[in-house]
Parts: sequence; structure tokens; C-alpha cells
Amino acid sequence: MTIKDIFETMDYGPAPEASGDALAWIVDQGGKFGHFIDGAFTAPGAGFDSKNPATGEVLATLSQASQGDIDAAVSAARKAQPAWEKLEGKGRARYLYALARLLQKHARLLAVLETLDNGKPIRESRDIDIPLAQRHFYYHAGMAQLMEAELPEAQALGVCGQIIPWNFPLLMLAWKVAPALAMGNTVVLKPAEWTSLTALCFADICRQAGLPRGVVNIVTGDGAVGEMIVNSEVDKIAFTGSTEVGRKIREATAGSGKSLTLELGGKSPYIVFEDADIDSAVEGLVDAIWFNQGQVCCAGSRLLVQEGIAEAFHAKLRARMDKLRIGNPLDKCIDVGAIVDPEQRNRVAALVDAHGGEGEVYTAKCDLPDGCFYPPTLVSGLSPASALMQDEIFGPVLVSSTFRTPSEAIMLANNTRYGLAASVWSENINVALDIAPKLVAGVVWVNGTNMFDAAAGFGGVRESGFGREGGWEGLAAYTKPKGKGKALKPVAEFPGDNAEPQPVDRTAKLYIGGKQARPDGGYARNIFDKSGKLIGQAPIANRKDVRNAVEAARAAKGWSGATAHNRAQVLYYIGENLSARGDEFAAQINRLTGGKTGAAEVEAAVDRLFTYAAWADKFDGQVRSVPMRGVALAMREACGVIGALCPDELPLLGLISVMAPAIAMGNRVVLVASGPFPLVATDFYQVLETSDVPGGVVNILTGSHAELASTLATHMDVEAVWSFSSTDLSEVVEKGGAGNLKRTWVNHGIARDWMGEAGEGRTFLDQATEVKTVWVPYGA
Ligand code: NAI
Repeated sequence: MTIKDIFETMDYGPAPEASGDALAWIVDQGGKFGHFIDGAFTAPGAGFDSKNPATGEVLATLSQASQGDIDAAVSAARKAQPAWEKLEGKGRARYLYALARLLQKHARLLAVLETLDNGKPIRESRDIDIPLAQRHFYYHAGMAQLMEAELPEAQALGVCGQIIPWNFPLLMLAWKVAPALAMGNTVVLKPAEWTSLTALCFADICRQAGLPRGVVNIVTGDGAVGEMIVNSEVDKIAFTGSTEVGRKIREATAGSGKSLTLELGGKSPYIVFEDADIDSAVEGLVDAIWFNQGQVCCAGSRLLVQEGIAEAFHAKLRARMDKLRIGNPLDKCIDVGAIVDPEQRNRVAALVDAHGGEGEVYTAKCDLPDGCFYPPTLVSGLSPASALMQDEIFGPVLVSSTFRTPSEAIMLANNTRYGLAASVWSENINVALDIAPKLVAGVVWVNGTNMFDAAAGFGGVRESGFGREGGWEGLAAYTKPKGKGKALKPVAEFPGDNAEPQPVDRTAKLYIGGKQARPDGGYARNIFDKSGKLIGQAPIANRKDVRNAVEAARAAKGWSGATAHNRAQVLYYIGENLSARGDEFAAQINRLTGGKTGAAEVEAAVDRLFTYAAWADKFDGQVRSVPMRGVALAMREACGVIGALCPDELPLLGLISVMAPAIAMGNRVVLVASGPFPLVATDFYQVLETSDVPGGVVNILTGSHAELASTLATHMDVEAVWSFSSTDLSEVVEKGGAGNLKRTWVNHGIARDWMGEAGEGRTFLDQATEVKTVWVPYGA
């Protein structure tokens, strides 16, 4: 036998991690767990078994929380919250730091427990899940320390309900609990029913850290318990899980005033160009799709490989698949562990079995052990529309397709309802960095995959949800502006006699695609002044007009690619032109509103245009200090098309306060002007026409907010909807937005002082942008 033969035939000996300490910890707890409420474990109640998926053995018995348990947990969190917030950041930082230290101290126990409970390879829980969980607590201990100095306008939301999945049980807990506590919130967290043990161990760690009672509460159970949390008196829901459940939660919380962040599924593209380092790209793919058995929301599950290298690439990939070691997750030599539960295994198998004969299915040549395992699988040669290319499988199944040109790669990559992550492989940095901004995804990895860190935001767009976790942007999900705000007061239009024929001086039109347009329905309504005298007629826009406006806005995508300098120039120009006609606008505002503040409103509007012109090229991205050689860029991107119901009370300033930040950041907008006082907006488009605003960037409709809100919110080509109408349309907008899970920003019945500081600034810019994290590791 030659040395070469020996190397080729040599097998790995088993190197199992001992499970004794973790099993002993379970036994020490009595093997049966209650909930962790108000600093203590409740007596175990009726519940269900938690099993080791690799062996089927029962590890512990968990309790199914009742409504009473949820009420007790929420009220403990509510009671604890004011004192926790009052500790101030520096006080809370000490506790977060202590939690991080204890997670580090118990790292081995937690890693083994996680692997026993979830089936993931010990290498992963030991080297990724647990260290990253610690890192989140350390990082957010720092955020707590800096809160008062760096976020002087922010305060805690209150009590946060947090619902997490089974794929990264402790890590998802850390992602949610650490920022919430750092910002002064208290939490009620529900781990997934298949994997609750590390969360319960974390509860024990909270006790060891001396965390005040009620700050962290952990309740166990299935989706019904999740629903109870969603419907309880919490101030926020943070959810990670399936798009289907995320959508339900969006609908259930609509109009309730609860904040919401959703981190949902994905079908992330893994794009390999022909100039890529092929061996690295194949190895990266192993991490992209076989890490955690593919049960990863951002798994690189959709391989797109350039045609010229497709055959060679697939051959190397198949050979590599055959070398993957599948088996006992506690064995340190194992690459692929067990699927979390037979139910999930069956779901994966059913999806693959239903592929209908399209494409070629390749299964890794491996001995599948007994237990809940599924072999690494590749389905190649699929058409872009096939179900396997579109639907999230959430298992060790890779699908693949080919492309010819970079633009085709982008088109295929973006041909999905999701937008979580993407990988780009090319040795040409120009190509990679040209593609990254064009991918519709919250995270892009260049020549890498599945890189995560607390300092870098993570989260998606489209049906992958909204909100970010990690980084500075992640804190927005756990804070709100200081101050309470006054209740919204509906602004009514002035009545007049519609029957009496009156001379009309002008019939206004809608403004769509840079042109004045008659309303589709052909109707207009009379607008009267305070004394009942007719001022003019405002068109009544309908669904069709909304659709036309959205189409025009979509077509104006060049605006998003224009330079920030360019956009600033256009905003300055609008400001100048408005200023030149200031007296006329002031008079019209006074006439419409029956007030005397027209001149002040125009002045403030011009100033606001200048402010956002100033911001256009200064609301920068950042480079994040992640622990790797390379950079993680937090890039600000436009959301796309934003639909907005403008404030009723200040017809010019309200419209500009909404329009200016949105277009400054590169969005295109469909604005529904003030309901009672629309005729300033219809004059304003003449200003737009003379200010070099490209057609379609700003579209202005007039009509009933209540009627148009739902059309805007349910429109699949609108990325975000804002509602500042004086009638509270939050529920309509949030519920309507559930369809394509668009971002919404609504007033929840609280008025805003548009003339004051609350009417402008960073909050608006944050709402007008998405943060995309682009990871660029170094390496020659
Ligand atoms: P799921 O979305 O049902 O479960 C996630 C969490 O939500 C669990 O804690 C569950 O108890 C809870 N939950 C379930 N129904 C709820 C409801 N109506 N209200 C509130 N909370 C509720 O995910 P599941 O069934 O475990 O997996 C199904 C599929 O979802 C997977 O095959 C995968 O495609 C996707 N998924 C995606 C995840 C991600 O990280 N993006 C994580 C887990 C699953």
C-alpha cells in the first residue's frame, strides 16, 4: 500500500464529545421543566417530551404554557421594567456583561445541550452558536453602556414578546434578549417546542447572574403559546420563523400599536462566476447549504453557476458531497448532523419527492445512520419557476441552475419572493462589488457565506421580513423616541353647498409619471373655504390611479441609481422654486385651512427641503468592526417605492416632510395629499415640473385616505407604506401590508408636531432606507 493509498482510504475515527455533564444538568433539574417566570421556575405542568433527534431518546419533559402562565410572565415583565430601565445603561451593562461571562463559563455544557436537543454537529454548536451568543451579550453590554450618550432621544419600548425558532435555539435567544435588555426592556421569550433546553439553561444562568426578577421570563410550548404572547399586553413582538407564521403575526398585531420585527425565510442565491476560485466556492457551498443541515434561514440554497464552468463545478460539488460525513452530532468529525425532528425530515422529503421529475436529483453517497437524518442532496437543471427553485426547503437540499451573463445572474438571483441573503463568488472584486448592491437582499457575502456578528446587522427585505438584528440599526427595534405625543385629532374639511352652482376657477388634476392626469373615475369634489365658498375642485383618485402611479414610480428606478449629489441638487432646486412662489402658496394655505400660518408653513417647508438636500449625501453607511480580516459594510439603500398618506393638518409642510427624506434617499413616492386641504399639493406639482424632478419620482394623488390606504398597502409593487393621516389608518395599512410583508410606518393614533423637531431628521431617513450588510473578507 502506498502512502497515497493510505491517505485515500484512511477513515476518521470517532471522536465523540461526552454528554454526561449535560445529561446530568437535566437530571439535576428533575428532568421536568416548568416556566421561568419572575425569577423562579414554576412547577412543571402538563406538557410534552423534548427528544434527541439523532437517537429519538427523550431528554426532558417540558410544560405547555397556559393563558395564566403567559399573563403571569407578562405581568412580571411589566412590573420589573421601570426599575430595569431606571438602572440606566451603565447599570444594565454590568448584568449583560455578567451574562456573557456566564455563557462563556458554561460554554461546553451549552454546546452539548444544544447538540443533544437540536441534532446539529457539536463542531457548530461549540464553535459558532455558543461563541456568537456570548458575543451578542458582550456587544450589547457595550450598547447599554453607551445608550445615554449615543442615543439621547431613545427610550425602551417596555415589555417585548419574543418568539424564536428551533434552528439556532440559544443564538436566536441571544440575538433577541441582548439588545432588548440593553435598551431597558424586559422580555417574555418562547423558545421553539422542539428545542427549549438551552433557553431553560439560560434562565438558570440569569439566576446565577443575579438578574432582577421579572427582567427575563421564559415560557415553553407550541405555536398556541406563541399566539397567546402575540395577543398579550406586550409592547413589541420580535419573531423569527416561517413566513407563514410571520404573516399571521403581522395580521394579528395590525393596528394594535405593538412594534414588530420579523425575520423570516429565504431562498438565498449563491452565485458563482466563472472566474471564481472554484475550490473555495465548492467549500463555501458546503457551509452555505449543509451547515446546520440546511436549516438556516439564510442558507445558500439556490446555486447559480455561470454556464462555462457549470459542468466542472457540479462534478467537483458531487465529489465533495460524497465526502461529507453524516452521523452522530456529538462526534467532532461529523459534518452533517440530524434533522431537528421527524416531522421536519418528512416535510423536506415530501418537497423533494414532489419535484415532478424535473431536473436531476443527486444524493450524496453516504451511509445514512438510523435516526432522523436526511442525505445531502443536489437537484440540478431546474427551471427558474419550478417549485423547488422558489420554495424554502429548510433542509440539506441544494437546487441549482445556470446563467450566462452578470445581468442574467442578477435577474435570476432576484427572481424570488424572498430577500434575506446572497453570496457572490468572483476573483474580480469589480464584478463582485458591482453585483452586491443590485441584489435584493439584506446581507451579501462576497467570496464567503454565513458570516455573522453582533456588530453587523442581519435581516431581510420582501417576504424575508423587516427590521434588523445586530449593529446600531438593530437597536431601533427595541427603542422608541422619548416623549409621549398627543392623540391624533381628525381634521375635517370645510362644508359648503354642493348643490349651488358656483364659478370654479380651476380644476386640478392628479400628477402621475411627471404628467398631469385626469382621475380614472372622472370624478372631482368641491373644496370649500372656512366660509363655505368654493375654492376649486380636487380629483378623486381610485385604485386604478394608484396602480398607474405605482407603475410610474417603478419605472423611475433611475432615481435610485442617481448620485446623492444629484438628488441633493434637485431638492435644493425644488426649495428655491417653492420659495420663489412662497407668497402665493402661503395665501392658498391660509384660504384652504382658514388659518394664518401659511407663511410660516411655506418657510418651514423650504427649510425642510434644504435640510434633506443637505442630508442626501451625508446619511452615510458605515464599516463595521467585525472580528475578521475584512470589512463588513453597512450600506444604506433606498427601499424602492414608498406609498404615503400625507398629514392632513399642514397640507404643504406635511407633504414635503414625507416626500423630501424619501426622495433624498433615492426612493420614488406615491403621495396621497392632505384629505381636507388637497389643493396645495395640486399647485405644488407645478413646482416639481420646473425643478428637474424626473417623471415618476414623485406622484401625487388626491382623494380619500381611507379608500386609498388599503390599495396602497396591498399593492405588491410597493415596498413600504407610511401613514400620517389624521384618521388612524394604522390597522388598514399594517394588515394590508401583510400580503408581501412590506415595511410600514404608521402613527398609531399619535399626532406629530410637523412644525417642530419631530417633523424631520434621522428617524425619517432611517425609515427611508434599508441597511444592507456586505461582507468582504480579505485574502489574496
Ligand atoms: P414556525 O414558524 O411554525 O415556528 C417558529 C416559532 O414560532 C416557534 O417557536 C413556534 O412555536 C412559533 N409559532 C408557531 N405558530 C405560531 C403562531 N401562530 N403564533 C406565534 N408563534 C407561533 O416554524 P416551523 O413550523 O417550526 O417550521 C416550518 C418551516 O418554517 C420550516 O420548514 C422553514 O421553512 C421555516 N422556518 C424558518 C425559520 C427561519 O429562521 N427563517 C426558522 C424555523 C422555520
